[in-house]
Amino acid sequence: MGFQSCYYDIEEELYPYQFCDTTSLASYNQKVLPILTQHCFGCHSGASPSGSVSLDSYEAVKQHVDDGKLSCSINHASGCSPMPNNAPKLISCDIQEIEKWIQSGAQND
Ligand code: HEC
Repeated sequence: MGFQSCYYDIEEELYPYQFCDTTSLASYNQKVLPILTQHCFGCHSGASPSGSVSLDSYEAVKQHVDDGKLSCSINHASGCSPMPNNAPKLISCDIQEIEKWIQSGAQND
């Protein structure tokens, strides 16, 4: 029985409510939009968005997918400003979901 009591330090088991589904396709409306709404809309929506970067419509988000800034900023890569601004990086599951969505063509699905 001893070996069954192994302690698994796995994020999904510690935080089941944040379970990261890496198998199904990431949908814009079901996965990406809620992340942006929660973490980005505070500054990037409305009439005068921060940095003139609007993220409150699919078309606006797609523009920053195409110029590479969305992926660059959430990954805190060099060549762009790290986002969310003055806050910790998104959890890795959120970043993976957005990356998966971008890689599968960034559809408005
Ligand atoms: C607290 C306010 C705030 C939040 C929250 C925030 N941003 Fe920003 N963002 C800014 C400001 C201010 C700028 C413009 C100044 C700059 O580039 O540093 C900016 C710039 C950007 C840019 C352009 C970067 C560049 O180098 O051209 C992108 C893309 C961006 N944000 C995406 C996001 C995303 C995606 C999120 C959510 C994960 C997010 N932001 C959350 C304030 C914010």
